[in-house]
Amino acid sequence: MDIVASTADLRARVRTWRSQQDRIAFVPTMGNLHAGHLKLVRHARGIAGRVAVSIFVNPMQFGPGEDYATYPRTLEADTAALMQADADLVFVPAVDEIYPGELDGTTRVVVPGLGDILCGVFRPGFFTGVATVVTRLFNLVQPDVAVFGEKDYQQLVLIRRMARELCLPVRIEGVATEREADGLAMSSRNGYLTPTERVTAAILFHTLTEVKTAVESGALDYPTVERTAMAALTRAGFRPDYVSIRRAADLGEPAAGDTSLRVLAAAWLGSARLIDNLEITVP
Ligand code: PAF
Repeated sequence: MDIVASTADLRARVRTWRSQQDRIAFVPTMGNLHAGHLKLVRHARGIAGRVAVSIFVNPMQFGPGEDYATYPRTLEADTAALMQADADLVFVPAVDEIYPGELDGTTRVVVPGLGDILCGVFRPGFFTGVATVVTRLFNLVQPDVAVFGEKDYQQLVLIRRMARELCLPVRIEGVATEREADGLAMSSRNGYLTPTERVTAAILFHTLTEVKTAVESGALDYPTVERTAMAALTRAGFRPDYVSIRRAADLGEPAAGDTSLRVLAAAWLGSARLIDNLEITVP
């Protein structure tokens, strides 16, 4: 497995792969890899001859006062895990490889509408940071297919739309969320939970499961279902940002007759902001 830090070295590897007619699958990450990330890498391994993974804690997607400085950086363990998972290449750029010059004035990719709803309301600029870095990484890696986790469902929908609207020649594949035994979605930020909070954290998944069950059993007054779920989370000790039932394809407000939905939630527990979502099929 190659570990490369410069865009020049990355482009040279990609050129070689292309000259050998290899298909490239790409998994962008911010490192601190867990079983959820490795599931994405295994998925990538199954669909392309070459697998590239990036590890880059992207400063543009962190707001003031967020955890950019303290975000866990575990490069040695990450590269060992990626070697085990049979990745071909890990790209570990420094910030100025991705953002030469000032971050403030640099070119950005904005996805209107999708970037400003749900998590975008609570983390202004976050999705512009994600869309910008993913576009830059796609331009460097030139993958045939890129793999993202469904845990970050809004991100997945946004990247799909961005790739389509910018005519990027890459297929976007989503992979189902990897969960702990009690249902908690795996996330690098779960490490911020105290042991007591870690036990409570699974209530987020159970609350979303109750929403799914209620809607699939005929509860079609979505605002009431959402309010009930918010209240249950608050009672359990969370500070919920939102619980929202949306159309799965574009995260629009569901209308009568929409059957393929998603319930999405974000909630603080101590110093960890947890997100999760579940598929809902209205009968
Ligand atoms: O999901 C993540 O880890 C990040 O948002 C991503 C896609 C790697 C962009 O920095």
